[in-house]
Amino acid sequence: MKLPLHKVLITEEQIKRRIKELAKQVTDDLADENPVFLVVLRGAFIFAADLLKELNFPYEIAFISASSYADATEPVKNVSLKPCHDIDISGRTVVIVEDIVDTGGTIKALYEFLKKRNAKRIEVVTLLSKKARRKHDLKIKYVGFEVPNVFVFGYGLDWKQNFRGIRDIMALETNDEV
Ligand code: IMP
Ligand code: MG
Repeated sequence: MKLPLHKVLITEEQIKRRIKELAKQVTDDLADENPVFLVVLRGAFIFAADLLKELNFPYEIAFISASSYADATEPVKNVSLKPCHDIDISGRTVVIVEDIVDTGGTIKALYEFLKKRNAKRIEVVTLLSKKARRKHDLKIKYVGFEVPNVFVFGYGLDWKQNFRGIRDIMALETNDEV
């Protein structure tokens, strides 16, 4: 598969620097909480690995797979969640680790999933956010970068399931190729 027309939006260096800042914030707030970092697959796997390597306090890791699809009859996306293993988070502080928050539907579904399982506290750390596209009122405490309403890929995010390994974050030149 050939790369679509794109430009570099955020460089590897910028990502590295920002992750160090996020790690410091997360450490200041959560080091005593023994949190569970819930990594949302597939897009967040590289971000999660780089972020968690910067954290020097006790925590657990869990994985959940999320996918969303637009249905012509619904104004918001349907979200399907599949835990990758047993996730016992009753009474725990859970930090959702996401690649990008777009409409917010995935985060909303994850909140409901975690509340049903009696999480004590839920936080979100996302590398990217497209605030202009938000359809759900969410307060997200840890955001790496706000990005414009363009399709982005690389650094874990895919374009048509490819190019997740690119080290920078790329933006499509035109939204026609989404
Ligand atoms: P939301 O539920 O609308 O917030 O969508 C979140 C999910 O959609 C993310 O976890 C990504 O998997 C995917 N997504 C949204 N925008 C982009 C993008 O620009 N590039 C790649 N994936 C995206
Ligand atoms: Mg995702």
